Amino acid sequence: MLRPIVKFGTPSLQTPAQAVTVFDAALHALIDDMIHTMYAAPGIGLAAPQIGVPLRVCVIDLSVGERGGEVITLVNPEFVERDGMQLEEEGCLSVPGFEVTVPRPGRVVVKGQDRNGHSVNVEGSGLLARALQHELDHLDGKLFLDRVRPLQRSVIVRKIKKLQRSDRW
Ligand code: NI
Repeated sequence: MLRPIVKFGTPSLQTPAQAVTVFDAALHALIDDMIHTMYAAPGIGLAAPQIGVPLRVCVIDLSVGERGGEVITLVNPEFVERDGMQLEEEGCLSVPGFEVTVPRPGRVVVKGQDRNGHSVNVEGSGLLARALQHELDHLDGKLFLDRVRPLQRSVIVRKIKKLQRSDRW
């Protein structure tokens, strides 16, 4: 089932999400919905708060479903390593139409659980490292806009508010 993606201005995007403690059919249905919603958007990553669900779950697929078996599902993820630096343009399905250069570590290692509660480790550099950090930020109630210079952020927020006022957001 496709779920509506909430946009900047929705409180769930700025609220830290809760740890998952039950790995049941409802969690599996949520994860399947998130994968379908990410592919339909289309996007390379989606976090549960983006569909209004305050749980620490995210999905990533750099191939957007083009290559089978590349989807990464992470439940309760956390960083165990972060190093290096990269500067690339970044966007977000919850902030459509805005792409900004965001500084991020170049390589990360994340540990978490899969949909059945089994431990998983994911190591990524380049785009995967960026996607992992972007999605884990969502689970902490952070957006990529919180990682750019304050002036840049306020310019974008002002543009979004203008869109909201004219009902185009
Ligand atoms: Ni995002």
